[in-house]
Amino acid sequence: MTPRPRVFVTRTLPGDAVDELARHAEAEVWPGGLPPPYDALASHVAGADAVICLLTDRIDAALIAGAPRLRAISNVAVGYDNIDVAAATARGIPVGNTPGVLTEATADLAFALILAAARRISEAERYVRDGRWRTWDPNLLLGMELHGATIGIVGMGKIGRAVARRAAGFGMRIVYASRGDAEGAPGARMPLDALLRAADIVTLHAPLTDETRGMIGEHELRSMKPAALLINTARGAMVDQAALARALNEGWIAGAGLDVADPEPVPAGDPLLAAPNLVLLPHIGSATVATRTRMAAMAVENCLAALRGDRMPHCVNPRVYG
Ligand code: GLV
Repeated sequence: MTPRPRVFVTRTLPGDAVDELARHAEAEVWPGGLPPPYDALASHVAGADAVICLLTDRIDAALIAGAPRLRAISNVAVGYDNIDVAAATARGIPVGNTPGVLTEATADLAFALILAAARRISEAERYVRDGRWRTWDPNLLLGMELHGATIGIVGMGKIGRAVARRAAGFGMRIVYASRGDAEGAPGARMPLDALLRAADIVTLHAPLTDETRGMIGEHELRSMKPAALLINTARGAMVDQAALARALNEGWIAGAGLDVADPEPVPAGDPLLAAPNLVLLPHIGSATVATRTRMAAMAVENCLAALRGDRMPHCVNPRVYG
């Protein structure tokens, strides 16, 4: 009898996806709430046929080289910038991700941040809890009106389009910048620099790549309107955070809403934590019960398909199939 494949799962996953995995493979799940340190990750993957990993796990070329049996890398995320896909492809290892299922949840969270930043929700709640609410005040906590405002969507993929649908419902004008084909997308397409000048709200929905890393730096923040807001639910490294902290402190822009940072979590003492007019969340874009359960199930489906020798249903490097 051929031995069952060994799969290292880097964290406890929601739902019963790991039970399904365990019906077909020897599943070893890293315990606890923190990611395995890199050395532990590498030594567990070294003897595994597959790894089911998270965006917190760095699956780099050295780790892949040290895992001679590895036949599948399955990320529980749509983004896969934590994985050296070129190194995996060179070894013929398929890399899986979880597109589609998190689109609506992530667009909802982007809108939650847009509303929170525009209407100063965190600040208003602190005001109440601090015991400072004394009367209705015509000048209290005035924010940005979304109806009629221009939203600038950077990246018109699935999530960007889902944000556009929500923006249309709020009566916003839509402009967008996209590197890819944005066939049928709503709104006016324009270069990023024109979008930054035009938008009242700039919201990022592109993947982190060599081209998008650091794409919003001092120059871009200074090009935005002083009353504008920056929203990031994509990847922290797309924004120069030191420049953003200065932009908020010095009023180059009016506020920001971030669900992502670089690194995550933001280290104690980072200037960003002291910046004004910032809503900061702990990377919860896809964090609904339904979405995270589905993401875990998809990651297991990708993994098991590869271990059976079938095509991964959601593979980011289909070149491995020739
Ligand atoms: C979350 O950030 C994801 O890429 O799924």
